[in-house]
Amino acid sequence: MISIAIDGPAGAGKSTIAKELAKRLGCIYVDTGAMYRAVGLYCLRQNIDYNEETEVNAALPHIKLDIEAIKEGQKIYLNGQDVSTAIRTSEVAAAASKVATYGEVRKTLVSQQRQMKEEKSLVMDGRDIGTVVMPDATLKIFLTASSEERAKRRYLEYKQKGMVVDLQTLIQEIEERDYQDSHRSISPLKKAEDAKEVDTTFKTVDEIVTHILHLLA
Ligand code: C5P
Repeated sequence: MISIAIDGPAGAGKSTIAKELAKRLGCIYVDTGAMYRAVGLYCLRQNIDYNEETEVNAALPHIKLDIEAIKEGQKIYLNGQDVSTAIRTSEVAAAASKVATYGEVRKTLVSQQRQMKEEKSLVMDGRDIGTVVMPDATLKIFLTASSEERAKRRYLEYKQKGMVVDLQTLIQEIEERDYQDSHRSISPLKKAEDAKEVDTTFKTVDEIVTHILHLLA
């Protein structure tokens, strides 16, 4: 079985690259960010103040997440309901980034992620995959890109979905989320010592994936 860890900041191209890699290698793709987003969405829907760690911890036993691998990537179910689209908003991203600072939330999700790794060959993306979730991964990649480039990608993604967003606001949101993700005390976003850093700015998906496949060979 193989396991590939892809970490990096928001908008570095993790999901696009991880999905394409999984397709070429014939293994499944797991987007761990979607799991933190689903916890954030649960709090928003249930009027749980996500800034209150004890309230979020108390909600955890009521949150059941299921991941389904599909041809286009993955679907995520929150207590049986498909929330794959509902989790893709800035509001949910901000809630996700906050709940991701809580130890109990991380412990719960990390143990589910490790379980998936035991069952199947996979490409998993997130912030702590190479450092915490699977330190023994076959290959670890740390993807980066300039914050302008990353905000532009998110802007196009939202636009394609018909959502109206302002580029300057997105740059600011991305920088805030990066700051929070890399400065939290538990499992901050950081490159694993043995991860290969790949800068995706100005590179095509095919160039990046080919490069990673060479690293794997
Ligand atoms: O990857 P995505 O932007 O969807 O992740 C949403 C949030 O979930 C991130 O900003 C980060 O705070 C959190 N996250 C995390 N660890 C992961 C994946 C995501 O803390 N492995």
